[in-house]
Amino acid sequence: MQPSHLLLLLFLLILLPGMWADPEAQPQVIQYLLTGLFANISSAEVSCLGLVGDIPIFTLDPANWSIHFHWPWARQAAAEVDGEKMLSQYKIVLRNMIQFVHDTVQQTKEHYPLVVQFRAGCVLYPNMTSWGFLNVSWDGRDLVAFEVDKERWETQQTSQVAEVVNKSLNRQKSVTVLLEYLLSTWICHSNFRALEKYGRATLERQERPVATVFTHTPSLDQLLLVCHVTGFYPRPISVAWLQDGHEVPLDPVLNSSTILPNADLTYQLRSILAMAPRDGHSYVCRVRHCSLGTHSLLIPWEDHSAAPTISITIVVLLLVATASVGGFWWWKHRKVNEATLEMHEFII
Ligand SMILES: *[C@@H]1O[C@H](CO)[C@@H](O)[C@H](O)[C@H]1NC(C)=O
Ligand SMILES: *[C@@H]1O[C@H](CO)[C@@H](O)[C@H](O)[C@H]1NC(C)=O
Ligand SMILES: *[C@@H]1O[C@H](CO)[C@@H](O)[C@H](O)[C@H]1NC(C)=O
Ligand SMILES: *[C@@H]1O[C@H](CO)[C@@H](O)[C@H](O)[C@H]1NC(C)=O
Repeated sequence: MQPSHLLLLLFLLILLPGMWADPEAQPQVIQYLLTGLFANISSAEVSCLGLVGDIPIFTLDPANWSIHFHWPWARQAAAEVDGEKMLSQYKIVLRNMIQFVHDTVQQTKEHYPLVVQFRAGCVLYPNMTSWGFLNVSWDGRDLVAFEVDKERWETQQTSQVAEVVNKSLNRQKSVTVLLEYLLSTWICHSNFRALEKYGRATLERQERPVATVFTHTPSLDQLLLVCHVTGFYPRPISVAWLQDGHEVPLDPVLNSSTILPNADLTYQLRSILAMAPRDGHSYVCRVRHCSLGTHSLLIPWEDHSAAPTISITIVVLLLVATASVGGFWWWKHRKVNEATLEMHEFII
């Protein structure tokens, strides 16, 4: 691949929207993932995905290389940062990248089928410092990476193909200088401004968690309390158990599942607390999430197994009491009415 074409490819990779900083937020990550599957010397299938955090921004259709924007605002943001009209040139860039891979295979006597992946992007920390990255892998193993500070490519494995690719990429000083600028400055600044302008509603979306508590009894002497929390977005969440109002410290009996994705780009997880049945303590599952602000979601668990007869007795007693009070009131009210009536007659 010619250096100017490589540059175009990289420019394309980092062209689209970036991110902005929220002082309370986790680091923001924008990344562009490009995968090329090379079945043989005359075949290549390329797909590409742009993500901000976990939100897909655009995909490249492998069949016809058309770009599909996942959001109307993503197209607007891309148009705004596409000052160099790169979008009209990306197909040339891809063709040259494919040729570069085929040439490298010939030169190094590597084998097909082969998968080559590019991962480029930027991490923006809450303190507004940023870190740009660009990694290339070959058949699933890191091959070369661009070191932004050093303005040069470094091999990530000891192999002939890594040496050949690295040498060829480092030969172009003007490209590495420009890459340093693009990765360290441009991607994290122009792009995040465009995103802030057009995509805020999507990227700052918050969905409230819904939590339920239920039990599971693996053996007679063990009861597992399960707090299932689902439907929340973004991903960071805190789920804790309170025993008689005090947070149960993290220990091996307190387990949380990994956070799993739902189909609607929300997340779920479960937190499990092992306890002895009927231990006399009260338990509450407490959920904290940015969508709840400073409030917590508190889901108490009541030990129904110990108390059904007591509950029924209480309900019956309450019913009896209500009926008695109601009956007495009715009787008294009637008496008063009768008395009033009698008085009335008397006055007349
Ligand atoms: C190359 O791979 C493609 C896709 O798997 C296949 O359709 C084609 O026949 C192959 N060509 C050769 C020359 O093997
Ligand atoms: C590309 O192919 C997809 C289906 O694979 C189709 O929906 C889309 O319209 C095509 N785009 C162009 C520009 O032909
Ligand atoms: C900003 O935050 C990152 C990650 O927490 C840290 O590595 C970096 O040193 C910080 N930079 C400054 C200037 O505070
Ligand atoms: C928690 O996880 C550990 C390791 O996966 C397992 O040994 C333990 O039994 C789990 N505890 C509960 C309460 O599920």
